[in-house]
Amino acid sequence: MITLGIEGTAHSIGIGIVKGRNDSCSVLSNMIRTYRPEKGGIHPREAANHHVTYIAELIKEALQQAHIPAQDVDLISFSQGPGLGPCLRTAATAARALSLKLHKPIIGVNHCVAHLEIGRGVLPECTDPVLLYTSGANTQVIAFAEGKYRVFGETLDIGIGNCLDKFGRSLQMPFPSGPRIEQLAKKSTNYLELPYSVKGMDIAFSGLLTAAIHYHKNNKPLGDICYSLQETAFAALTEITERAMAHTEKQQVLLGGGVAANQRLRDMVSIMANERGARFFVPEKSLCVDNGAMIAWLGYIMYQSGVRMEIDDTIINQRFRTDQVEVIWRD
Ligand code: ATP
Ligand code: FE2
Repeated sequence: MITLGIEGTAHSIGIGIVKGRNDSCSVLSNMIRTYRPEKGGIHPREAANHHVTYIAELIKEALQQAHIPAQDVDLISFSQGPGLGPCLRTAATAARALSLKLHKPIIGVNHCVAHLEIGRGVLPECTDPVLLYTSGANTQVIAFAEGKYRVFGETLDIGIGNCLDKFGRSLQMPFPSGPRIEQLAKKSTNYLELPYSVKGMDIAFSGLLTAAIHYHKNNKPLGDICYSLQETAFAALTEITERAMAHTEKQQVLLGGGVAANQRLRDMVSIMANERGARFFVPEKSLCVDNGAMIAWLGYIMYQSGVRMEIDDTIINQRFRTDQVEVIWRD
């Protein structure tokens, strides 16, 4: 069965085509285009305008790369939430139009659950992980328990990616700043004290961000600040992930979200997993960031388990919570 997935929760518009056979996922194409504001943060309407501009040609490119005609698509899925209203509406409108034109069923999916399911889909040994989902807007520790994906811990203020990007923006670094901060951090091992906020299994970053900006204003070496920012934030993320693993007694950990590209974060979580005798998984980068393939894959497994939607059921949900989804495709 071939599914075309449309991702459009925030600044990326993605079209992914996957072929599913039982539990096995093969990604036929996965095209992503990202809106980059000239200055400042993301303006939801401008991001949506970007998506409107590129979505039709991206669908064509994805079909071409997958070497299939549009008629061979069996199912259309799209990111129903959570995310920015104008962006979500753009993806949903395109999905509805495709579904009606091709006379194919449509399924709206939860974006956060898709980040987890794509890891299970492409990494067959990753069966029941705790997901550390770290992106721009989201920072959550998610795992399956009693019929649902539950959020065991999350940020109480901003996402980790946002924290890195805001720090970068205060120094006029280009967006997104995460990769640049990673490079700068490699130049130092000199730790500067920063606030560490873990509250149970939740986490907060704004105090850390303010303190890092303050160090910069006081002319501390940039490498030292980037190094200390990463060490502090990633240690805290690793700690809440370990706590969720201990609590749920799960033996696997999976990374997802754009910040999972960071080698230092990967190293820290992988060391923690090794020390617990647990296994560490991370999908390739194009499947960690916001992408259409993960939306297609989740649409496929939901459809396989019997989920059906009419156009009336495809209204977007900006605050679609991870634990609102009935996970009927798992025991
Ligand atoms: P979501 O809508 O799920 O919150 P998003 O729109 O923020 O996702 P992603 O592509 O998942 O999109 O993540 C982007 C974030 O990842 C940015 O904040 C960026 O700075 C960060 N990032 C990318 N590469 C790295 C890296 N090497 N190190 C740290 N952060 C990184
Ligand atoms: Fe995401």
